[in-house]
Amino acid sequence: MVIPYKHEPFTDYTVEENKLLMLDAIKKVEADLGKEYPLIIGGERITTEDKITSVNPSNKEEVIGYVSKSNKELAEKAMKVADETFKSYWRTSDPKFRADILFRAAAIVRRRKHEFSALLVKEAGKPWKEADGETAEAIDFMEFYGRQMLQLKDGIPVNSRPIEINRFDYIPLGVGLVISPWNFSFAIMAGTAVAAMVTGNTVLLKPASVTPVIAYKFMEVLEEAGLPAGVINYIPGPGGEVGDFLVDHPRTRFISFTGSREVGLRIFERAAKVHPGQKWLKRTILEMGGKDTIVVDNQADLELAAQSIVQSAFGFSGQKCSACSRAVIHEEVYDQVKERIVELTKELMVGNPTENYYMGPVIDQASYDKIMEYIEIGKEEGQLLVGGTGDDSKGWFVNPTVFADLDPNARIMQEEIFGPVVALAKAKDFDEAIEIANNTEYGLTGAVITNNREHLEQARRDFHVGNLYFNRGCTAAIVGYQPFGGFNMSGTDSKAGGPDYLIQHMQGKTTSEML
Ligand code: NAD
Ligand code: ALA
Repeated sequence: MVIPYKHEPFTDYTVEENKLLMLDAIKKVEADLGKEYPLIIGGERITTEDKITSVNPSNKEEVIGYVSKSNKELAEKAMKVADETFKSYWRTSDPKFRADILFRAAAIVRRRKHEFSALLVKEAGKPWKEADGETAEAIDFMEFYGRQMLQLKDGIPVNSRPIEINRFDYIPLGVGLVISPWNFSFAIMAGTAVAAMVTGNTVLLKPASVTPVIAYKFMEVLEEAGLPAGVINYIPGPGGEVGDFLVDHPRTRFISFTGSREVGLRIFERAAKVHPGQKWLKRTILEMGGKDTIVVDNQADLELAAQSIVQSAFGFSGQKCSACSRAVIHEEVYDQVKERIVELTKELMVGNPTENYYMGPVIDQASYDKIMEYIEIGKEEGQLLVGGTGDDSKGWFVNPTVFADLDPNARIMQEEIFGPVVALAKAKDFDEAIEIANNTEYGLTGAVITNNREHLEQARRDFHVGNLYFNRGCTAAIVGYQPFGGFNMSGTDSKAGGPDYLIQHMQGKTTSEML
C-alpha cells in the first residue's frame, strides 16, 4: 500500500541553509561542465562524431556538455530495440514493478534535488525558485503517475449478466515517440516519458536540442531505479531529421509531443498519414503554445491584479506556455493597474541566475532575435511603458517589457512571443473583457481577478481555456491538483498530471466469457 499522493514541497532559498545547499549543488554541476554524453539505445552507450553543444544561455562561452546526436540510422536502431523490448516482455510486465521504478526514481531525484535544480539554472537559465519548482514537478509526475497506474492496473469494473463474466482492462499501445521542449526540460521531459513507460509502452525519448544534458542525467536515475534496458531509449537529435523520420515510421504507435504550435501541427498532419506496413492509426498527444490572458474587473483587488500579471508575465522570462502575455483590464481601473504594473516591473532584477536573479536569460539567439523583433512590432502597435531593451553580448538577456493600449487584434495580442513581454488592453465592461480574452487561436491558461461572484461564474462558463484561475496568476499548475492542458490550438487537452492522462497511453480491451 503506497501512501497517498501529496505534492513535493518547495524550497525557501531565503533560508541560509537552503541557499548553501544550492550553492554547493551549483559547484557540483560546474565540476561536470563540458563533459561528453552518449546516446542510450537498449542500454548501450553510443557515441557519435557529430555532437550537440549545450551552452549556458547566461554565458554562451560556458559549455554544459557535448551530447552525441542521433540520425536516421540510429533512430531506426532505437526503434528496433524499442519494438523488440515491447513485444518480448515490457507489454506484459507487472504494473506494480513499473510503478515501483517511478517511486524509486522519485526518491533518487528528491535526494539530489538541488543538483537537478542547479543543472536547470545552468542549462536552461532558470532562476533558483523556478528551477526548484520544476524539480518538484518532475518528482510529482513520478509519484502521481506511479499511483495512477496502480489504480488502473486491474481495469475498470463493468456489468456482467448471470451467464457471463465481463472484464474491461487497459493494455499498452506499443512504441511511443516522446518529444519534449526546452522550457520544462526536466519536468515535462520526465513526466511525458514516464507516463508512456509506466503504462507498459516502450519509449523513444527525443529531448529538446538546447537542453539534452538534464535528460541524460534523468536516464541515469531511471537506470539506477531499475528500469530495464531498451524500455526508454535516449536519442537526442535534430527535430527536422530524426523527428520527421520517427513520426512517419510505421512502427510508431503514438506520439507524445510538447512544444510549439507550428511543430505540433506538423506532427499532427504527418501522423495522420498511413505508411506501408503500418497496422494502426497513430495516436497523438500534442500539447502546444498559448497566448494567455489575465482579466481584471473593476471590482477587484488591484494590487493582487498587478502582482499576478507581473509574476505570470515575467517568471522564467515569460518562457512558459502558461505565461501571461496579455492583460485585459476594465477601463475604470485601467490606469491604476497599469501604473502599478510599471512600478513592479521596474523593481525586477535581471541577471545570471547562477547568482539568483529574479529573471535570467532567454534560451538562445533565435529566441532573443524573435523577441526583439516582437518588441519592434509592439512599438508600432502600442505604447512602450517599460523595458524594450536587451543585451546579447554575453548571454541572451531581454528586459521585462510592458506595452499598453493595444488593439485586441494587434499581432502582439495574438501571436505567442515566448519572452518577457506583456501587452495591456482596455475593456469597457466584463463581457467585453471575456470576449477579448477568447479572441485568440489558443486556449491554454487564463485568470480572472474580481470580487464579483457573478463574474467569476460567468468566466467559469465562458472563458474558454483549459486552465482557468481565479484571483491568482495563470502559471504554476501543480501535478494532481491542477491538471494541465489547453483547448483549440493549444493542443489535445491531454491534461498532464490529471486523472485521464495515463489512459491516453493505453487502449481498452473488453473480454467476455460465457459461463
Ligand atoms: P519546439 O516546437 O520548437 O520544439 C519542441 C520539440 O520538438 C523539440 O524537442 C524539437 O527538437 C522537436 N522538433 C522540432 N521539429 C520537429 C519535427 N519536425 N518533428 C518532430 N519533432 C520536432 O518548441 P520549444 O521551443 O522547445 O518549446 C516552446 C514551445 O512549447 C512554446 O510554444 C510553448 O508554449 C510550448 N509548450 C507547451 C506546453 C504545454 O503543456 N502546452 C508546455 C511547455 C511548452
Ligand atoms: N505547467 C506549467 C505551468 O502551469 C507550464 O506554468
